[in-house]
Amino acid sequence: MSQYDENREGSRDGKRENRSTVSEVDNAAVALTAVPEIAEVSTGAAGPGSMAAGTIHTQCHSRHDREVPEVDLLSPLTIRGVTFRNRIAMSPLCMYSSEDGFATDFHLVHLGSRALGGVALVMVEATAVTDEGRISPVDMGIWKDEHIGPLSRIARFLEGQGAVPGIQLAHAGRKASCDTPWNGGSSLKTPAEGGWPVIGPSPLPFDVEDPVPTPMSAADIQLCIDAWVAAARRALDAGFKVIELHAAHGYLMHQFLSPISNNRTDEYGGSLDNRMRLVLETARRLREVIPQALPLFVRISATDWVGGGWDIEQSIVLCQKLKALGVDLVDVSSGGTTPDARIPVARGYQIPFAQRIRDEAEIRTGGVGLITDPEYADEIITSGQADLVFIGRELMREPYWAIKAQHAMGVEPSWPIQYGYAVKRRAK
Ligand SMILES: Cc1cc2nc3c(=O)[nH]c(=O)nc-3n(C[C@H](O)[C@H](O)[C@H](O)COP(=O)(O)O)c2cc1C
Repeated sequence: MSQYDENREGSRDGKRENRSTVSEVDNAAVALTAVPEIAEVSTGAAGPGSMAAGTIHTQCHSRHDREVPEVDLLSPLTIRGVTFRNRIAMSPLCMYSSEDGFATDFHLVHLGSRALGGVALVMVEATAVTDEGRISPVDMGIWKDEHIGPLSRIARFLEGQGAVPGIQLAHAGRKASCDTPWNGGSSLKTPAEGGWPVIGPSPLPFDVEDPVPTPMSAADIQLCIDAWVAAARRALDAGFKVIELHAAHGYLMHQFLSPISNNRTDEYGGSLDNRMRLVLETARRLREVIPQALPLFVRISATDWVGGGWDIEQSIVLCQKLKALGVDLVDVSSGGTTPDARIPVARGYQIPFAQRIRDEAEIRTGGVGLITDPEYADEIITSGQADLVFIGRELMREPYWAIKAQHAMGVEPSWPIQYGYAVKRRAK
């Protein structure tokens, strides 16, 4: 089981309820409302990285000095030739609403409304580079040219609303072929169930009841890298301005990185250099096809949260190498390789990883996970822990979160022109 859903917290104490039907979510997909202690933390006092000194935005009580022209949540950010209007990004969110991989009107409205709502970057959900790389049969895909048309409509609309259109390219590896979260998320093991055989670095299943992946040969690996490159070309044709390589949450790239899922004895397994080889080769090939003026992001899980797994030290080495290859930002999440992880979920629990990577690999980072209020998001930026904040579920709850953040921070909200003249009076 592998989908993004709201039930990950079931594994927090190691006691997974009903393994066969409840998905272990791959990152911080935790229902705030279902976890009182998290709800408490998320509305509580300042988290890690609090800064001392004055205020810049009285309404949100940011702690940096009004007189110092520092960067804050609402400052633009330019990476290569792309300018983000603020530091707020919509985190990639699988919607399980495609047929044969195609983006639909649902996606246009879902993503488009967040662009209207003022975010700087709208990252399209995990989009499969091959059909067998889908988490579920209803994942978004980009493995054929026919997928470009509906995606280009979305990219055009997002850009027309002032947001940068981004797309996350993905392959689920051993965590492919699952049902939708709202149907329980269990593995679809047979074609009769709508499933297909899964591949991975090694014949190690994610969970005891999950299918054993067929180990990829060296030729399979090269074909897979080619599929990422072809997908990136299609994404560029569709008009996306940011490509994100999904190497997090226990999916294929992460499966190669982690000793938990990779016990190969060839050049793609064993030493850290060998385990990083696929991600680095893919990033290098992507950078070759992405124009110099456009950024390449990589999402990683900074840790597996289990001993003997992938961890922050290895992540720092990986990010140093990604930077050298021309990757512009690492979007720092965690977890997803094993259902046995014990994850200390709380507001900002992944932010220290973003900070360490930013400091020690000297690469821009994105911070993500349980960021719900503008004050805390602003603090992440002003304290130099990350360069962008990625917001997932709070943007599902509130598409106008960025506009509300502007209002809370005492900045004139950037309503779409069609709304602004009508709503501004009350906003005062
Ligand atoms: C419904 C849902 C779908 C998700 N889909 C993706 C995805 O496609 N790619 C990805 O990297 N993360 C995905 N995630 C993880 C989010 O991008 C984000 O990292 C996570 O929800 C934590 O941020 P939040 O607390 O602001 O929601 C998903 C999470 C949820 C809840």
